[in-house]
Amino acid sequence: QELQLNLEQIEKGGYDHFMLKEIYEQPQAIRDTYRGRLRVDEGIIKMAGMEDNLEKFLNADRILIAACGTSWHAGLVAEYIFEDLARVPVEVEYASEFRYRNPVITERDVLIVISQSGETADTLAAIKLAKEKGAFVFGVCNVVGSSIAREAHAGAYTHAGPEIGVASTKAFTTQITVLTLMALKLASAKGAISRTELQRYLTEMEAIPSKVEGCLKINDHVKYIASLYKEAPNCLYLGRGYNFPVALEGALKLKEISYIHAEGYPAAEMKHGPIALIDEQMPVVIIATKNGHYDKVVSNIQEIKSRKGKIIAVVMEGDTTVRELADHIIEVPETTEALSPLITTIPLQLLSYHIAVMRGCNVDQPRNLAKSVTVE
Ligand code: G6P
Repeated sequence: QELQLNLEQIEKGGYDHFMLKEIYEQPQAIRDTYRGRLRVDEGIIKMAGMEDNLEKFLNADRILIAACGTSWHAGLVAEYIFEDLARVPVEVEYASEFRYRNPVITERDVLIVISQSGETADTLAAIKLAKEKGAFVFGVCNVVGSSIAREAHAGAYTHAGPEIGVASTKAFTTQITVLTLMALKLASAKGAISRTELQRYLTEMEAIPSKVEGCLKINDHVKYIASLYKEAPNCLYLGRGYNFPVALEGALKLKEISYIHAEGYPAAEMKHGPIALIDEQMPVVIIATKNGHYDKVVSNIQEIKSRKGKIIAVVMEGDTTVRELADHIIEVPETTEALSPLITTIPLQLLSYHIAVMRGCNVDQPRNLAKSVTVE
């Protein structure tokens, strides 16, 4: 027993929990994900799984994405980037719904499945269904040789390394990294973005790990905010555009590990429901990046403020407008909007981590949850 405990301590590498270790591993995990693929000097992206099947992607009428949990959120981020840059229609599906609703799938569809473990039963079933209908299936998995990796026609690994904490962190950001590289590759193959634009994205992607390191430096500030809201019974997360899925993921992280009821919403949808919940007790975490419909988010913040909600805003460095309105600001390094989920996610992971620890929760193994769901 004691030996087991000691071993676990060693595995945690000096961190109190696997989740915190994995949050801190993200700069390196993202580097590992793009290593060999991101060729900034040559102005290209190398991804064998895509190159060998480029025609499938180029001829696709649309891209379907199926996944569960956090991987589904990565799929939502991918929807924005594939549509925005590669100009291909994308539909993102919960694998569990997709498999049972007799979906329309043709040979001209590409299905991308996303799974950290590569063993999620519903996602595996989605692959089987799509294959029966003749679609091409591309897997984005972390675990090498997993069932989903084997069942897909082709794929790309995330190379995040083992993720032990049940709440997914580095798997999420590396999934987004792979999906972004895929979208950029397709966008440039289609001529939907220019060489100069591609080069700009490549350079910016290369800088992401050091910007994630920048986010980790504000850990103490995030911990302080956590101490103020740790007793909150509810929490609302808002974002728009690329950062709407980040709001969903922020809320999922909080509910998974702290058992606080949290909801993520597209900021503009707030007025169609959640605004009714806002009072002086309600913390609202809102992502307000400079390039993402900024003015609209600012007016959403004003709406929350006039109802006395507590505003915790994630902003880009140097922001002055939101600073005046928000109760707390969390400043993160600036990046281009399409890559911003890789940055804005980090403080939200830290916020839920600290709240859960302060509430005495079992962060690495939250009640009722499994790391991988291999049954329906
Ligand atoms: C479980 C895990 C989540 C994960 C989801 C999908 O619910 O607790 O962290 O996002 O399954 O898992 P997958 O391995 O397919 O990404």
